[in-house]
Amino acid sequence: MLHHRIRRAVSDDLLFLLDLEQQCFPEHRRSTRQGLKTSLKSHAQEVYILEQIHGSQPNPVGAVVLLKYKRTVRIFSLALFPQVQGLGLGSKLIQFTMDRAAAKGFERVSLEADSANSRLIQWYQHAGFHRIEHLPDYYAPGEDAFRMAKKVQAAEDMALPDDLLVQELPNGWTGSMGGTDNMQI
Ligand SMILES: CC(C)(COP(=O)(O)OP(=O)(O)OC[C@H]1O[C@@H](n2cnc3c(N)ncnc32)[C@H](O)[C@@H]1OP(=O)(O)O)[C@@H](O)C(=O)NCCC(=O)NCCS
Repeated sequence: MLHHRIRRAVSDDLLFLLDLEQQCFPEHRRSTRQGLKTSLKSHAQEVYILEQIHGSQPNPVGAVVLLKYKRTVRIFSLALFPQVQGLGLGSKLIQFTMDRAAAKGFERVSLEADSANSRLIQWYQHAGFHRIEHLPDYYAPGEDAFRMAKKVQAAEDMALPDDLLVQELPNGWTGSMGGTDNMQI
């Protein structure tokens, strides 16, 4: 039986995260090795790995990188290996993020998405995100983004699906990282 698990990333996940970025994003949109190292170490960020578990064998297939502002959790990166896209796992990572944000008192979750990728924008809209800002040349000249956001609902707490195990929930979700809540959303 196939289960899924979300766990907090550790430094040994760096190579997996690099591989995921390489398979999912064009070169100029990828996080660098140094950027990912920072994400893994920073108290202002949290990285989660989604694993498929077949028998007793965990197999990492996706990840989400979160930045914590004073009131906002920002999804900095969300990706699944191409062979497991379209199976609902991305929705599980979004749900997980909303639940964690609700549990720790954040007010909203935000992200940036390619404005030319209408399928992706619709997917986020279906998940409850709204376009709140157009960001010209966000990725590169001529490659715009939409900033999107979703209000955190306390009721979403504990709404994780039955087949999802969540391991090692972080203690570090303080709801504040002092002085860095400068994002206008
Ligand atoms: C976008 C992404 C996280 C969605 O996760 P997922 O598990 O594939 O999505 P779900 O199975 O939960 O939902 C399926 C819907 O996601 C959307 N979707 C799936 N793959 C997609 C892709 N490569 N690009 C854009 N949208 C995609 C579609 O709307 C799809 O609905 P459809 O099957 O009716 O067309 C995942 O496809 C992915 O990692 N894509 C590449 C990296 C990326 O673009 N990340 C987002 C950066 S902002």
